[in-house]
Amino acid sequence: MSSFAMPRSEAEFKGVILELVDTLTTIIDEKAALLKKHSKRVADNSADFCTKYKLLQDDKIFMVYLTGLLHDIGFIFSPNTLLKNSGNPSEEEKVQMRKHPVVGEKIIANLSVLKDILPLIRHHHEAMDGSGYPDGLSGDEIPLGARVLCLFNDLDTMMFPFSKTAALTIPEALAEIKKETGTRYDSNLIDQFVEYVEATSAESDDYLLAKANASIKEIFANIIQDFTSGNIVPPVMPQVVKEVQAVIKKTSSTAEDIAVVIEKDPVISLRLISVANSPVYRGIHRIRNLKEAIPRMGLKETLSLVIAIANKSLYETEQAQFKILMDKLWVHSLASAYGAKLIAEHLKLPEPENYFLMGLVHDIGKSLLLKAFTSIYKEKKINFDVIQANIQQGHLSIGGVLLRRWGFDDIFIKVVTDHEKMVLAPETPKEILIVHLANMLTRNIGYSLFTDAVDFSELESATLLEIDQQKLDELGAEVRLIIQDVAHLF
Ligand SMILES: [Fe+2]
Ligand SMILES: [Fe+2]
Ligand SMILES: [Fe+2]
Repeated sequence: MSSFAMPRSEAEFKGVILELVDTLTTIIDEKAALLKKHSKRVADNSADFCTKYKLLQDDKIFMVYLTGLLHDIGFIFSPNTLLKNSGNPSEEEKVQMRKHPVVGEKIIANLSVLKDILPLIRHHHEAMDGSGYPDGLSGDEIPLGARVLCLFNDLDTMMFPFSKTAALTIPEALAEIKKETGTRYDSNLIDQFVEYVEATSAESDDYLLAKANASIKEIFANIIQDFTSGNIVPPVMPQVVKEVQAVIKKTSSTAEDIAVVIEKDPVISLRLISVANSPVYRGIHRIRNLKEAIPRMGLKETLSLVIAIANKSLYETEQAQFKILMDKLWVHSLASAYGAKLIAEHLKLPEPENYFLMGLVHDIGKSLLLKAFTSIYKEKKINFDVIQANIQQGHLSIGGVLLRRWGFDDIFIKVVTDHEKMVLAPETPKEILIVHLANMLTRNIGYSLFTDAVDFSELESATLLEIDQQKLDELGAEVRLIIQDVAHLF
């Protein structure tokens, strides 16, 4: 028979106590969801404060820590609504509130290992001038640990209120506490307390934010590194796109030849038919099959739409929290595609479908980066501004690499890598100017990740292409209508 194994070392013993205390606080968390986190913060800060200013011996500091975790355990027996009131408790509620230190002491009283924390639990709401509860102790009658806990308890409640009152910022909370120094709080502790809170808070929020941002940046740097070195396999160009391209290259090809190829992919076929029936392309009769759809749109246009439909899958993500951003990217790409095509048509350039494709893929690097990021990043809190900034920074080179692998012509690659150029010149290829302009056009109609409007009169691409502001407004309105009609059909 084996005997019961008692904890052997002091560390092991402390570990058992912490487990026990954690179990108790879990019970109270059932009652009031925020209480466990509150208790943990009060425990951490109070104990850390005592350590930093050497206010107590180590074993006493451990007791302060345990009290922090358990100080409000007495709320277990109070009405469920007590902590969630409007912040303006009734007299009856105040009476209830004031019971929790004594109730807490009673709950813990039978656990002999925790006997040293009983006075701290009982007195964590006493005030220096004797106006506190439950015993109205004053000054040095209140244990030092309880005076410290009182400070951190109140600070935390002001910053993270249980009731519906507004949370105070750290400076606001410190100002409140200073007002009651000497009456409620120990004036001998206040300077160190303020110094401690200011120092740790300077670290905390800003520091944590900076740290989170740096880790996002690092993830993106790794993705780009992995992608360019071939460690990340880039998405392949859909087979159907390749085949349609090959068929169209043969000058003898007919609509029927293309239909045969596209029909192999039922999803693309169905979507193509619904796009063909949208107001943008609609004729008199409703189209029911590909053989009717293709002549209506033309061979080149059909190819563009097949590529656009196939591209859509690059903008899909399993991660729900990134869906909105992905959708925005997709709509931006589609709006840029139609924008570029309309600009090319306005300028009477041959093969406007090519500009559609350039607009469509100009930001493909963004979707690639975001997709890779969403599969790695699992934090719940997401700073979209930082993510967007990183996507913005990396998307040109990544997009260029992808299109090269897909076998696109040089001019496509140039469009992808150069469409954000600030300095444009008369010798800049028209393709780049057009996609640049289409990209900017999407901002003014609300289909861009950037929300600041663009002044067309100051836009070099508009000037070099000799398109005036009024025309651009017209084109923008037209793109918006098209997007409203077709974006959901892809
Ligand atoms: Fe309390
Ligand atoms: Fe871009
Ligand atoms: Fe863009």
